[in-house]
Amino acid sequence: MRHSATISFCIGLGLLSLHVLAESVASKAFTPKLSRCPPGTALVRSTGTTKQTLGPDEERYISTRKRQVLPAAWTSYLHSIESKAKALGVVLPEYVSHVLSSPNLNPTLGLAISGGGYKAATFGAAHLTMLDARNETSVKFGTGGLLQAASYMTGLSGSAWFLTSLAQANFPTFEELIFGPSGRERHSKEPLYSGWLGQFDYFQPGNANQSLEYRNSLLSDVMGKFNAGFPVTLIDIWARALSRHFANGTTPKNILDEDVPHGAGITLSSLSSLPVFQEHAIPFPIVVAASITKKLNASNFFNQSDGPPAPSVVPLSNPLYEFNIFETGSYDPMLTAFTPTKFLGSPNDSICVTGFDQIGYVASCSAGIFSIFNDSAGSLEANPIGGLFLQMNATLSQPGIELDAGALPNPFFGHAKEMFPDSDEKFLRLIDGGEGGEVTPYQPLLVKARGVDTIFAMDSQADNEISFTDGLSVIASQQRASLFSSAYSFPRVPTSVETFKSEGLTKHATFFGCDTTTSDAPVIIYSANGAPPLGQPPVTNLSGIETVFPPDQARAIFDQSFDIATQGIPITNVHGEVEKDPEWPICLACAVTDRMRLKAKAERSGICATCMARYCWS
Ligand SMILES: *[C@@H]1O[C@H](CO)[C@@H](O)[C@H](O)[C@H]1NC(C)=O
Ligand SMILES: *[C@@H]1O[C@H](CO)[C@@H](O)[C@H](O)[C@H]1NC(C)=O
Ligand SMILES: *[C@@H]1O[C@H](CO)[C@@H](O)[C@H](O)[C@H]1NC(C)=O
Ligand SMILES: *[C@@H]1O[C@H](CO)[C@@H](O)[C@H](O)[C@H]1NC(C)=O
Ligand SMILES: *[C@@H]1O[C@H](CO)[C@@H](O)[C@H](O)[C@H]1NC(C)=O
Ligand SMILES: *[C@@H]1O[C@H](CO)[C@@H](O)[C@H](O)[C@H]1NC(C)=O
Ligand SMILES: *[C@@H]1O[C@H](CO)[C@@H](O)[C@H](O)[C@H]1NC(C)=O
Ligand SMILES: *[C@@H]1O[C@H](CO)[C@@H](O)[C@H](O)[C@H]1NC(C)=O
Ligand SMILES: *[C@@H]1O[C@H](CO)[C@@H](O)[C@H](O)[C@H]1NC(C)=O
Repeated sequence: MRHSATISFCIGLGLLSLHVLAESVASKAFTPKLSRCPPGTALVRSTGTTKQTLGPDEERYISTRKRQVLPAAWTSYLHSIESKAKALGVVLPEYVSHVLSSPNLNPTLGLAISGGGYKAATFGAAHLTMLDARNETSVKFGTGGLLQAASYMTGLSGSAWFLTSLAQANFPTFEELIFGPSGRERHSKEPLYSGWLGQFDYFQPGNANQSLEYRNSLLSDVMGKFNAGFPVTLIDIWARALSRHFANGTTPKNILDEDVPHGAGITLSSLSSLPVFQEHAIPFPIVVAASITKKLNASNFFNQSDGPPAPSVVPLSNPLYEFNIFETGSYDPMLTAFTPTKFLGSPNDSICVTGFDQIGYVASCSAGIFSIFNDSAGSLEANPIGGLFLQMNATLSQPGIELDAGALPNPFFGHAKEMFPDSDEKFLRLIDGGEGGEVTPYQPLLVKARGVDTIFAMDSQADNEISFTDGLSVIASQQRASLFSSAYSFPRVPTSVETFKSEGLTKHATFFGCDTTTSDAPVIIYSANGAPPLGQPPVTNLSGIETVFPPDQARAIFDQSFDIATQGIPITNVHGEVEKDPEWPICLACAVTDRMRLKAKAERSGICATCMARYCWS
């Protein structure tokens, strides 16, 4: 519509009309469709500012899950922890059993997984395996079942790839998710899920000629969307590359085929009809993206108080957006508005767009790190996506569209004019959720209407020069929450990397928020990628921007992350050897139930008093 359709460009095999390219099956499936909005459609839901409300569909999902699924999940987790206590010869405080077996006292648990590429996805997956009731090792260990008992899980960047792939594959085990299913499914004719295919580079999956053709097919995949009048940016190209790894339908055999949709057409909103959502069997997934605004508040950049400047692209005060299967928007006080995810891209409430909310696109916005490279001439071109950038920039005429971020038609145009910095922008510019510094997506779990009591945070951001975690994202999240103290409460955490280092807080599990006398802020169970586990050479310290991640490396990182997750604070045993803390699973249960203990006005006692003294940062 808007764009002239006569552009053509060299794809290395001669000049082809982009119209021809746009005919590919993936391009068609990636093209959003316009139609009349259903009667009564409201494209903006205001959440209210003082007492925020959840979207009705989320409310229904969570309340049904809490009624029909979670009581049994908490009870079986309790059985697992009771067997563990028995085996260790310790007695659980009565309140732990009471809280876990009384539906009206069950904690609301959120799982937050940091960004950091494939490594972060794998680090998260290994932790969730420890919490998975489907894994017998984890159930025997006394931690299996917490995953099934959680209400929410949040991801950004690499962990957004993880959550979208997990949800669209109908919640397989993490083993199957990463490495592909074994057995019958493998031979199915349906476009099923076949693992992350990390052995194939995102931009060079074959020999030179194959890779050139492949990159051209990434471009042709987005041409239908372009021809339909929607802006396309590097985020769309990246979306199409990511889909070949994290969505159903791509296999090692067909990854280079151009007549396969490679996940195009799978939308975030459509996942609500998958069995796992119909049965309320999966913690509600939320993906976070940050944004570049023209009117930024330069006094709010995240600064590390005692180290080199943190590499943030946008101030902490820029809006953070969340995508869920029902809604997209922000609870941040400057916006407090949402739009239906299934109608993302709509120009107004008479014409509704569908098919914009492709899972690859959502994951790609959340992992859109290209603006990091757009700081000095040439560096964007030097990026692995640089050739595609030059090709797009030279061939697609899109005045006013910046290619380094996602360009989402602004659902909140004209909204909250006083406060919302993008109120008068036609497009929101979405970027990697961690680009303000908050690389672990705590924010959705701090929304008061969600009532989250406990957050299990998995942080594997590469903070230091050897790509281990130093706690930066915890510090940034605390700073951000204090900018919006009317909306969010964050527990007291160290304000400097020095404290994390000197107290070893990233080298073993740590609890934050134990000292509160009010139950306002959640308890955070923090497990970081701060060091290799006991006696092992490090394999989990990667920068997080790898474009290739072969299965043997995934396996090594997965196994080592499982050891990090399960070791707790190592102890010296009676033989003088250092070993995993045998009581760690019990201590985890103490932390998970601590907020409800406080609400029930019980005193910490017995093994939980010991555990909290050992694991709490004070
Ligand atoms: C359970 O997790 C452990 C640790 O990752 C793994 O070795 C084992 O294969 C898993 N079991 C199943 C049934 O997935
Ligand atoms: C993806 O494949 C899995 C099986 O591997 C299937 O259960 C699921 O429904 C598929 N998802 C979509 C969106 O088609
Ligand atoms: C790549 O393409 C060129 C030109 O068509 C051809 O000469 C060359 O043999 C091809 N190389 C490979 C590895 O297929
Ligand atoms: C920028 O942030 C500072 C500190 O939070 C605040 O005092 C100031 O009013 C903000 N300025 C604008 C223009 O929003
Ligand atoms: C962060 O550092 C920059 C540059 O030194 C400074 O302009 C800004 O005020 C600092 N921000 C905060 C929140 O202290
Ligand atoms: C809604 O958007 C469509 C497509 O851009 C446009 O043709 C129409 O005029 C718009 N309607 C209103 C009421 O703005
Ligand atoms: C991108 O395109 C614009 C407009 O055609 C041009 O001025 C600019 O030099 C191009 N940028 C690069 C890096 O090629
Ligand atoms: C790089 O950033 C500048 C400033 O925000 C913007 O004007 C420009 O369009 C960006 N370049 C690309 C390729 O997006
Ligand atoms: C991982 O840690 C080891 C040991 O400190 C170090 O030699 C290596 O360079 C680190 N790897 C990365 C990618 O930083």
